[in-house]
Amino acid sequence: MRTQVGIVGAGPAGLVLGELLARAGIEAVIVERHDRPYIEERIRAGVIEHWAAALLDELGLGARLRREGLAHHGIELRFAGRGHRIDFPSLTGGKEVVVYGQHEVVKDVVAARLAADRPLLFEVSDTRVEGIETDRPVIRFVHEGEEVELSCDFITGCDGFHGICRPAIPAGVLTAYDRVYPFGWLGILAEAPPSSEELIYAWSERGFALASMRSPTITRLYVQCPPDDDVAAWSDDRIWDELHRRLAAPGFSLTEGPVLQKSITAMRSFVVEPMRHGRLFLAGDAAHIVPPTGAKGMNLALADVLVLSRALEAFYQDGGTAGLDTYSDTCLRRIWKAQRFSWWMTSMLHLFEDDSAFDRRRQLAELDYVTSSTAAATALAENYVGLPFD
Ligand code: FAD
Ligand code: DHB
Repeated sequence: MRTQVGIVGAGPAGLVLGELLARAGIEAVIVERHDRPYIEERIRAGVIEHWAAALLDELGLGARLRREGLAHHGIELRFAGRGHRIDFPSLTGGKEVVVYGQHEVVKDVVAARLAADRPLLFEVSDTRVEGIETDRPVIRFVHEGEEVELSCDFITGCDGFHGICRPAIPAGVLTAYDRVYPFGWLGILAEAPPSSEELIYAWSERGFALASMRSPTITRLYVQCPPDDDVAAWSDDRIWDELHRRLAAPGFSLTEGPVLQKSITAMRSFVVEPMRHGRLFLAGDAAHIVPPTGAKGMNLALADVLVLSRALEAFYQDGGTAGLDTYSDTCLRRIWKAQRFSWWMTSMLHLFEDDSAFDRRRQLAELDYVTSSTAAATALAENYVGLPFD
């Protein structure tokens, strides 16, 4: 088998890259380890930045997102028993975000790709990449019992944090920057109407909580928990009790409903540099992870593949490699700013085990500042809706 760009992984990065390349007339084959229902049902991110929603529109993938997604014009920061709203349009020249599940984006792109008969192979196993330092790199894998050799001009590692592409880069090439946080998030999906029209990020004496949503009838809620906690230790009653306590504010009542899904995510910040070796390009979680506070992960994955698609398009137009050569630096500038923002939101809102009374007072002062100074609120808002792209 032969293609121009071999894409490992059908997460948001790999799937959207496939569409961007198709629009530019570049052939690609996507190989995915899991089956279609698995990737279409895995509950993860939920907030799409302004420019990213516009990109999906441009690719003809935004119809359901605009119909069923929820346009949000602000968030609430809740602390010391009171809510404070950050208004996005007035602080960012009219921008908003769209609350729409990552798995819904995945469903929309998979449907478009299969309808257009573009190659997307599910349930591949034993994936390996070879010859990345040559101009004929190869992806080998097993599909439907057969060993396949896919010869490519370029390989893109869109295979997430636990993928095989990053480890295929020879030792000594990459530098990794890593921070592990001493907590995780227990997330639930519940069949209950959202308790508030907008997302609530809550600081509390008991730790962080986040009230989000997926639709007018489904809520998505998170509570800070120990990083190695067992989901089994969290009965539905315990989760609701904790949410009630952490989100408490006068006049607020949290709607409960059957819990449809529960999971715990550990939190870390991670970046490798550079994001390219030879003809292998890393994009999305394969190259970087942000803690989820601030909702940057999927958006960064989309930003990477937009930069990469432009570089590949220029290469196929006239052989120019300038875009490919600057891919890593261009992406890393945005990534480090998103790392900073996610770290800042995380540090401001969570309870750290070694926090002193001084640290907790400082967090409250920071929240007070962000919600009372237009300059500080603008900094939060412009990062939240997505920094300007070019
Ligand atoms: P992935 O989505 O991880 O996709 C990688 C794909 O590669 C997977 O389908 C995997 O099966 C496949 N793969 C792996 N290995 C192989 C192999 N060897 N061969 C073939 N295929 C392989 N981000 C936001 O922007 N906003 C949010 O609100 C947000 N909330 C989050 C909440 C939670 C609870 C979690 C866990 C994450 C959240 N994120 C959020 C982060 C976001 O989900 C990720 O950043 C995003 O999934 C990255 O996309 P990706 O395509 O790079 O990687
Ligand atoms: C969601 C996740 C986030 O990390 C966040 O900051 C906001 C919302 C969500 O899953 O809805």
